[in-house]
Amino acid sequence: MKTLKQVLDERREKAETPERMDFIDVIVSELNKQNPALSENLALNVLFLMIFASFETTSSGLTAALKFLSDNPKALQELEEEHQQIRERRADPDTGVTWEEYKSMKLTSHVINESLRLANVAPVLFRKATQDVHIKGYTIPEGWIVMICPPAVHLNPTTYEDPSVFNPWRWKDLSEPVGGSKDFIAKLNAWSYNELVRASL
Ligand code: HEM
Repeated sequence: MKTLKQVLDERREKAETPERMDFIDVIVSELNKQNPALSENLALNVLFLMIFASFETTSSGLTAALKFLSDNPKALQELEEEHQQIRERRADPDTGVTWEEYKSMKLTSHVINESLRLANVAPVLFRKATQDVHIKGYTIPEGWIVMICPPAVHLNPTTYEDPSVFNPWRWKDLSEPVGGSKDFIAKLNAWSYNELVRASL
C-alpha cells in the first residue's frame, strides 16, 4: 500500500494529462475533480484490489491450465484442432478472435472450466449474515461470517465423477445449456443475497 501511495502521489504531482491514460491516470483524474467519487483511501484500495484480483488469479489459473494440458496430450491435441479450424475459416489468419469464434470454442471453455475447477484459484470466500439466515434446516445467526470453500464443492465426487482427474469433456454435460455448473466457482461467486453480503476478515 505504501508503494501504491507513492505511485499515486507521483502521478498526482504531474501537471499534464498523458495522451494515453492507464488505470492509475483515470483514478488520478477522478481524484483531481472538485467532488471526486472516491477518497484517496478508497482509490488505493481499488488499485490494490485490481492488481490482486486480476494478476494473482489469471497467472495461477493459466499456469495450472498449461500444466494440465501438458500432462494430457489428447486434450491438447483436440484444443489445437479447435483453434486451427477457426484459423482456417478466416480470411486473414492473424486477425483477433471474434465474438462468434469465441462462442464456438466449446472445448476451450471446457478446458478453462476444468482447469479452474481443479486449480481452485480462490480457495475461500467470505459472506457476512446481515440478519438470521435459514438454509436447509440450519440457521446462520446475524453477524456471523460464513466461509465458503469452493474446493469442497469442486472436488465433490457426487457432482464430479473422479473429481481429481482432469477431464474437460465432463463439461459437455455439466455446462449445457447455461454455460456453467451451479456447483462451480463462477456460480458460487454470485452467491450473495440481501442477507449474506461480501465480507473480509
Ligand atoms: C481465473 C481468473 C479469476 C478468478 C478465478 C476470479 C475469481 C474471483 C472470485 C471467486 C471473486 C469473488 C470474491 C468474493 O466474493 O469474496 C472475484 C471477485 C472479483 N474479481 Fe475476480 N477472478 C479472476 C479474474 C479477475 C480479473 C482478471 C479481474 C480484473 C481485471 C478480476 C476482478 C475482480 C473484482 C474487481 C472482484 C470483486 C467484485 C465485487 O466485489 O463485486 N478478477 N473474482
